[in-house]
Amino acid sequence: MYAIVAQIGTDIVQAKQFLEAGELVAIPTETVYGLAANALNEEAVAKIFKAKNRPSFDPLIVHVNSLERVSQFVEEIPEQAKKLVSNYWPGPVTILLRKKAIVPDLVTSGLDSVAVRVPSHPLTLDLLASLEFPLAAPSANPFGYVSPTEAAHVEAQLGNQVSYILDGGTCRVGVESTIVSFLHEKPRVLRLGGLAVEDIEALIGEVEVNEHSSSTPAAPGMLKSHYSPGKSIELINGFDFTRVSDFSELGTIVFDTMLKDIPAENQVVLSKSANLDEAARNLFSALRLLDQKPNIKTILTEYVPNHGLGRAINDRIKRATANKD
Ligand code: TXA
Ligand code: MG
Repeated sequence: MYAIVAQIGTDIVQAKQFLEAGELVAIPTETVYGLAANALNEEAVAKIFKAKNRPSFDPLIVHVNSLERVSQFVEEIPEQAKKLVSNYWPGPVTILLRKKAIVPDLVTSGLDSVAVRVPSHPLTLDLLASLEFPLAAPSANPFGYVSPTEAAHVEAQLGNQVSYILDGGTCRVGVESTIVSFLHEKPRVLRLGGLAVEDIEALIGEVEVNEHSSSTPAAPGMLKSHYSPGKSIELINGFDFTRVSDFSELGTIVFDTMLKDIPAENQVVLSKSANLDEAARNLFSALRLLDQKPNIKTILTEYVPNHGLGRAINDRIKRATANKD
């Protein structure tokens, strides 16, 4: 066993050197920070699973800097997929296609498909352009915990597991990419995320949506209790306030309006102007913040309007509040 203390900075040359040496580097994207390694180097990829304590049946997304580079790793790119990514890459959408043999089994957990995306962040795009290989990168959090949206979040949880944290500031979108499978006749959204279903459908027509993707074999990582912070988190709607003697032990994550009776400093409003994009951007840092406040025992939250990025927010809230028994 060895412990490394991550350096944090904006030096892509240094990040590149670590990646070429088979080490782990945390990278900023517009969605969340990723924990990256050379996707074509099994030994390097194995370090990702170890650092995150992630089960090997949960496959990784392969990141590249352009659509042209994707063809090295996948069989054929259907027209609809091409149309989608030509319009939205670099951006918060991942596509699932049949893989070529060059992609190691460890990356795809032995599946014959691979998830690929071009993230939209200038530092990471420059880094990817400078590399000879693609980057496999899950979100840079310990398995089952909330995804990081700032370099400091990565440092706090995985700082002794990565060689370098490329600091690209706060993630602009704040929830993970939308995953769209093109493995079958009709495109299917396997994970709601940073690109709204409405925007996808406006471009390529109707898609199927796995709303209850908790245990689908198609996306093995989508366990129900994903995105949970350490504390108990419950829905406001249905919560029994009569069993609470001290309201300062409650924290809330609300959409646009605070609850009465609970101290204001315990409450996070996701968007005062009821803007779903802003709410998505603030969701994960709100969970972290309240999880870390020692006086708060229970976090209460609520669903937001179920359209646009609200669907991805509600999906994360549903998982975070899922019964963990
Ligand atoms: O926004 C994002 O997508 C971020 C940034 C870093 O790019 N990445 C991310 O990765 O959220 P991760 O590993 O936390 O979530 C990827 C999800 C997992 O639930 C995994 O099961 C699914 O993608 N996935 C990856 N490859 C797959 C495959 N071949 N078939 C089905 N699901 C796959
Ligand atoms: Mg994740």
